[in-house]
Amino acid sequence: MNKTSFALKGNIFFTPAPGQLAIYPESYLVCVEQKVAGVFAQLPEQYKDLPVEDHSGKLILPGLVDLHVHASQYAYRGLGMDMELLQWLEANAFPEESKFADPEYAEKAYSIFTQQLLHSATTRACIFATIHRPATLKLMELLEKAGLCCYVGKVNMDRNSPDILRETCEESLAETRQWLLDSAAFTKSKPMLTPRFTPSCTDELMAGLGKLQKEFGVPMQSHLSENLSEIKWVSELCPGTRFYGEAYEQFGLFGGECPTVMAHCVWSGAEERARMKANGVFIAHCPQSNMNVSSGIAPIKSYLLEGQKVGLGSDVAGGAHLSIFRAMIDAIQCSKLRWRLVDQNTPALTMPEVLYLATKGGGAFFGKVGSFEPGYEFDAIVMDDSNLPTTRLCSLPERLERMVYLGDGAPCAKYVQGQRLF
Ligand code: GUN
Ligand code: FE
Repeated sequence: MNKTSFALKGNIFFTPAPGQLAIYPESYLVCVEQKVAGVFAQLPEQYKDLPVEDHSGKLILPGLVDLHVHASQYAYRGLGMDMELLQWLEANAFPEESKFADPEYAEKAYSIFTQQLLHSATTRACIFATIHRPATLKLMELLEKAGLCCYVGKVNMDRNSPDILRETCEESLAETRQWLLDSAAFTKSKPMLTPRFTPSCTDELMAGLGKLQKEFGVPMQSHLSENLSEIKWVSELCPGTRFYGEAYEQFGLFGGECPTVMAHCVWSGAEERARMKANGVFIAHCPQSNMNVSSGIAPIKSYLLEGQKVGLGSDVAGGAHLSIFRAMIDAIQCSKLRWRLVDQNTPALTMPEVLYLATKGGGAFFGKVGSFEPGYEFDAIVMDDSNLPTTRLCSLPERLERMVYLGDGAPCAKYVQGQRLF
């Protein structure tokens, strides 16, 4: 066995299914050749020679997954929040993203983002860069060096954007093709097609991306049914479509053969939901962003009940916080408002449900990721809650809940594919 075989000792948590919380007090989580071999109360005979990293007293969880984040918007987190989506894009996102034409600026900004992501509880992410190929490759290089496993997208935009942040269709497709070829240099950073959203991409560009998807077999990510003004605009731009998702699907960019993450889905109607389910489209729920840019409250509990694939996203900088623990709390709180104000027949999300969304739910996009069941890739975080003292004698589920609500979200150790990053 090589150095990627070892055991961690501590209080182990994971969620095999939505709402199911598995807890193993002071147990052993065994990693063999980068994969989870199992969780055991005592170390079995066959593993007794493995090195044990002792995290006794601490909480051990699967690494968290951020299914939707804009690395290129990190600089203005927490700023410009008094606007709705479309105005916010014009005022904040587009001016900041245009700066990434400068490789020096891009390296500085992406280094900060990568360091922050590295020291967070997130082990996997689907990331938007900008339209700029060199900057996008720099981000992929930085993430790979940090040991993180991410999908990264060079963004496509050939309409309805300022001159400084718009490509021609030909340029966009040629740069995307070259970027897909250049991306072969990486093993942990993987490319993902990223048409920004329908208003930013002509039909011609979408058709070209659909062809590239087939040729390279890469997944894709975009935004879907986020905000009412955006949805109205899409219906005007695409008069032949019955629902927003069809604007992607008509070009082969809506799940099925093309593994797809769609951010938000706040306002998806019955037809769109049926198509997402049939095509296995992943929904990235970004509750904080939905509140900040006044998009609405996504029906996530209903999505879980109807068997949709759902994970959580920070959507920085629509969301101000990179922490997926924070996204878990926001998801619970949003779902309570939805129950109270919109739909009394659908209960709020629970802590075990949002932990599932943050781990196995989003992790499924990456394969067998986000759980400690045997055969899963070994992504783990160790959380120390001793800096949250209380006179109360808390049970393990209570310690998990307090750590999520009250902690700073920073792990004391982090493992990705069996490699300890710190
Ligand atoms: N829709 C198109 N672009 C964006 C973006 O950058 N953030 C969010 N939240 N929605 C978008
Ligand atoms: Fe977004």
